[in-house]
Amino acid sequence: MRIIVCEDYEAVSKKAAQMILSQITLKPNSILGLATGSTPVGMYKNLIQMNKEKVIDFSEVKTFNLDEYYNLPRTNNQSYYYFMHENLFNYININPANIDIPNGMTENIEAECDRYDATIKEAGGIDIQVLGIGNNAHIGFNEPTVNFEKGTHLVQLDESTIEANARFFNNKDEVPKNALTMGVGSIFKSKKIMLIACGEAKAEAIYNTVYGKVVPEVPASILQFHNDIVLILDKEAAKLLNKEDYKTA
Ligand code: F6R
Repeated sequence: MRIIVCEDYEAVSKKAAQMILSQITLKPNSILGLATGSTPVGMYKNLIQMNKEKVIDFSEVKTFNLDEYYNLPRTNNQSYYYFMHENLFNYININPANIDIPNGMTENIEAECDRYDATIKEAGGIDIQVLGIGNNAHIGFNEPTVNFEKGTHLVQLDESTIEANARFFNNKDEVPKNALTMGVGSIFKSKKIMLIACGEAKAEAIYNTVYGKVVPEVPASILQFHNDIVLILDKEAAKLLNKEDYKTA
């Protein structure tokens, strides 16, 4: 695991955007795995700016998102479909046909999950997967559980995740209780993984991810076994890590 610790959220966002720029520069038709949540918003802002300045070109890029709430229409401003368009896709030169997000409104969950996994495989697999991390160390919506789930599947959200995400809704009761998410197996298949985390609330999850036992109760711990992963953290998220284990940027 490579770990880079940046001064603050702005520096993390810039560093993460530079990694995506390098990826697309090396392979213009890259397959990106993307995440929602508050952490990647700054990275997306940087990418929009780079696209405006013609430093980065998304015309051949394909994207797959990690997850989507179940039974929340795409027109709802809290759906991840809506989020991705509002925070990135509407402002860059990506071909809409090259965007894929699990369809949370599907009437056939199994068929949708199979379609999603098969489409990622047909595209050649994800070149770089962007991840955030939950306070409970979830990745995507793979909550702490007793098994690592492989492919895309329906999950029940943890009470702590519902509470954490209530800030985006009018109240906690409005937060969907289920989501479709790529499994830990799908995430693990990505050629590269870049996990970004900021703030003290993530410090324990990061500590357990880096030093803890690899167990499904700490979903992100599986990342210890990936051979091309970088963690980009701010000082607060890194505060429990030993200084010799990371580089500062
Ligand atoms: C989002 C996702 C989640 C978030 C995590 C952190 O697509 O899969 O795992 O990355 O909940 O969210 P923030 O960034 O809001 O702290």
